[in-house]
Amino acid sequence: MDYKWILHPCTLLQNLACRFLKEIEMEIAGLFAAAFILVVAFAYLVWFWLLSRRLTGPNVWPLVGSLPGLIANRNRIHDWIADNLKSTGPATTYQTSVLPLPFVRQGLVTVTANPRNMEHVLRARFENYPKGPIWQSAFHDLLGLGIFNSDGDTWLLQRKTAALEFTTRTLRLAMARWANRSIKTRLWRILADTSNAASMCSVVDLQDLLLRLTFDNICGLTFGKDPETLSPDLPDNPFARAFDTATEATLQRLLFPGVFWRIKKALNLGSERNLRLSLKVVDRYMTETISVRTNNPSDDLLSRFMKKRDGNGNVFSASVLQWIALNFLLAGRDTSSVALSWFFWTLMQRRDIERKVLAEIASVLRETRGPDASRWVEDPLEFDELERLVYLKAALAETLRLYPSVPEDSKYVVADDVLPDGTVVRAGSTITYSIYSAGRMESIWGDDCLNFKPERWLKLAGDGKKGARLCFEPNMDKYRFVAFNAGPRTCLGKDLAYLQMKTIASAVLLRHRLELVPGHRVQQKMSLTLFMKNGLHVHVRPRNLNFDIDGGVGNLTEFCHVTTNADSTVPIAAAA
Ligand code: HEM
Ligand SMILES: *[C@@H]1O[C@H](CO)[C@@H](O)[C@H](O)[C@H]1NC(C)=O
Ligand SMILES: *[C@@H]1O[C@H](CO)[C@@H](O)[C@H](O)[C@H]1NC(C)=O
Repeated sequence: MDYKWILHPCTLLQNLACRFLKEIEMEIAGLFAAAFILVVAFAYLVWFWLLSRRLTGPNVWPLVGSLPGLIANRNRIHDWIADNLKSTGPATTYQTSVLPLPFVRQGLVTVTANPRNMEHVLRARFENYPKGPIWQSAFHDLLGLGIFNSDGDTWLLQRKTAALEFTTRTLRLAMARWANRSIKTRLWRILADTSNAASMCSVVDLQDLLLRLTFDNICGLTFGKDPETLSPDLPDNPFARAFDTATEATLQRLLFPGVFWRIKKALNLGSERNLRLSLKVVDRYMTETISVRTNNPSDDLLSRFMKKRDGNGNVFSASVLQWIALNFLLAGRDTSSVALSWFFWTLMQRRDIERKVLAEIASVLRETRGPDASRWVEDPLEFDELERLVYLKAALAETLRLYPSVPEDSKYVVADDVLPDGTVVRAGSTITYSIYSAGRMESIWGDDCLNFKPERWLKLAGDGKKGARLCFEPNMDKYRFVAFNAGPRTCLGKDLAYLQMKTIASAVLLRHRLELVPGHRVQQKMSLTLFMKNGLHVHVRPRNLNFDIDGGVGNLTEFCHVTTNADSTVPIAAAA
């Protein structure tokens, strides 16, 4: 029953007229609304059209920008970015938007692998390209205003203080000692157990072992305590797990516009809840560790910072020390192990390079420890022995060129600017420099850019005739190779990382021959660190040094001529 009908005062006729008028009214209102929407949509489309004409990257769509392409390529983001960059020709730079809305600069991204542009951003106009507010607020709960997460004076003070420490011989020795100990007492034992005859078919995830090992090392170096996450029974360490969870949850914040995680945080939901819980665990562990160190200083980074003063001449408070320590932990924990995983994986496919690495190690050890090979594997290599391994260093640099542990890095644009190639960047937008792509540009590395070729890092010092010595040649132009960043924010741990990677690489290769488990798929994980998604599953065999070395390359002098060796041009990078 329609009561309105009965109660309405109009006669039937009036009523009809009323209804008619009302309908017209509504229709007009509807028309207005439709017209308004049309105008807005049209204005938006005009705006979008003007914007998209300025953008040079992959296809962009209204409202979602280049997200469809990103999602379609989500399992090969780094290669997708490299392809996009290659298609821009010599500029190797493009601009795109992941959130094309008027007045919103956040979604506007400039992507580059152009060495001139990278030098501009990382050095020449350094002040204009800080980490910026989006990154900083996302990482603030975990890293505070530590060196990795600050800009301006806060960063500079810590940088100066830390830089002094990182050049000291005592810190290098400390790293050598921590690596030495964890290899000797744990890594070797675990690998030997796996390689024993009874377990010919047993498999280890080498990446997992390496991640545990470098986590232990960086904890030792940072606060003088080895949590021994690398142990035969592969224990679950609450601090390591909490730190992992916190890092993961923090990275998730960067995926969507900032309001999302702020709301989630206020409501204590999902990853924000996990973050809060794991930060508590991290906090408790650090508080305890710092109080132990305060009473009992050692030669670790934390103890060194305890002796320093801040800008006002005060000692650092416990909470600042905690930030500082956590920042070093984050900076130095996974990067070397991830690089080593790609290194070992490469060597399993390139036995010719493995032989050269071994031959170099053997030729050094023959001099320092004598001809008896059993003495070579008694202890991990000493500092002076490692210094002489130039071919190994070249092979590690070559690994980082093709598989940089930090594949993409972003900076915030403070003021409008023009990059050296002419690209205009807007204040408030983002600039991503693709370290991964920079390592794979034909324009930078030549047409064999995808070949694994350590020789490109080596040169003969002297006249190139007898007596000439092979040297590691850090690439002429350091803005071509940015795996350790470049400019004022260059990785502080670079030398320590090479030292650690050389120690571990030689320790494993001298004792064991690794074989990739058939059928195991090595894939890149899409993350801020270039992990192997499924780990690195290998069989571990004993190494027969006599066979593996004498059957291979004889001695160092031969390296100088290997550039022409046909073997070393087999492409391996494409297989990943
Ligand atoms: C293969 C190993 C490593 C690679 C590829 C690597 C790479 C990098 C990169 C790309 C950055 C710049 C990040 C940015 O500014 O956005 C960086 C910064 C840094 N790295 Fe490393 N790193 C490695 C190992 C280490 C180690 C072992 C340590 C510590 C012992 C360390 C300490 C640092 C620190 C403290 C910073 C911050 C510097 C600053 O912001 O002023 N790194 N590293
Ligand atoms: C490693 O430890 C052993 C003792 O366990 C020691 O003799 C050797 O010098 C150490 N090497 C380094 C590089 O610290
Ligand atoms: C190293 O190789 C060179 C060139 O092949 C050869 O002449 C030399 O005798 C070798 N030295 C040793 C110690 O085997």
